[in-house]
Amino acid sequence: MSAQQILKVFVTRRIPQEGMKILQKSGLCNLSVWDSDEPVPRAELLKGVAGAHGILCLLSDKIDTEVLDAAGPNLKVISTFSVGFDHLAIDEIKKRGIRVGYTPDVLTDATAELTVALLLTTARRLPEGVEEVKNGGWSTWKPLWLCGYGLSGSTVGVIGLGRIGLAIARRLKPFGVKRLLYTGRQPKPQAQEVDGEYVPLDNLVSESDFVVVSCSLTPDTQGLCDKTFFSKMKKTSIFINTSRGAVVNQEDLFEALSSGQIAAAGLDVTTPEPLPTGHPLLTLKNCVVLPHIGSATYTTRGVMSELTANNLLAGLTDSEMPSELKM
Ligand code: NDP
Ligand code: DGY
Repeated sequence: MSAQQILKVFVTRRIPQEGMKILQKSGLCNLSVWDSDEPVPRAELLKGVAGAHGILCLLSDKIDTEVLDAAGPNLKVISTFSVGFDHLAIDEIKKRGIRVGYTPDVLTDATAELTVALLLTTARRLPEGVEEVKNGGWSTWKPLWLCGYGLSGSTVGVIGLGRIGLAIARRLKPFGVKRLLYTGRQPKPQAQEVDGEYVPLDNLVSESDFVVVSCSLTPDTQGLCDKTFFSKMKKTSIFINTSRGAVVNQEDLFEALSSGQIAAAGLDVTTPEPLPTGHPLLTLKNCVVLPHIGSATYTTRGVMSELTANNLLAGLTDSEMPSELKM
């Protein structure tokens, strides 16, 4: 292959070796990597993408018109190391004929597991219990101490019964969940597998003991969980979000949690990320916040890395992508 045929690729972060090896071995790319665990500063991103044929990016990189302009007309493919694509200006990308690769399915199990872990952690008040053991607050076994809420006989409502939503429902059902409600843009045949009942959002919110958010972030879902939403939840209900922080109005959530409008919340995603250490939500005992670790198993991140690399190479060579986003 001649030097001219080598295609310029900008990788916006250090990623697991699995993907880097695939890109290096291909011999197709002139790789430029922001070789850090921290996000690439915007100015470096704009500089790095100049003239690129491919961009391998993360969910923390906003790929908008400015970035696309900085990349210029060579750009053929954007491969994101994520299933969520709300950080990409899809309309503009589509207009320019640029293909997009993403990572559905391979992180579904890991994210569903984490969601169940977060739900149980929040409902059974594990962080409070661990803290009491460490700080000497554990004096004896007490009948009314550190009681929480159980799944057995409960109603669970899943907002967005997509790949991850369904995987969460599958895992929760064996805990003895009595009713599994879900909402979305249309009923899903696959909901039968979990005896899912398609209901309007209002019913889901007011009837569920556990409300689990697993939808994608879109203009319709942005700020969906607000004051009105929380005011319809039962006082004994638990709110769990592992989708995107912007689905929630965090001021309204703080109010709902601190006033006792709802029992507790577990969040794997926030706005912004990271959530500042002085954020009011972090002062609440009934709010468990994780640092966006839904897909964080070694295996999953390795497979995501491979898939992201293979999507990128397919985009560069005009071949079929393992996972192309249909726009
Ligand atoms: P899917 O596309 O399979 O599922 C998304 C679901 O969102 C669909 O069922 C869709 O419903 C639903 N949805 C869209 N609009 C609405 C709406 N207005 N109201 C209710 N539901 C709606 O994606 P995945 O399940 O693979 O991933 C879902 C999201 O999870 C990702 O977009 C990402 O943001 C997040 N995620 C977070 C992770 C983490 O680390 N915390 C890890 C992985 C993903 P319909 O089919 O009816 O349109
Ligand atoms: C995604 O893929 O969208 C997650 O948020 C991170 O794995």
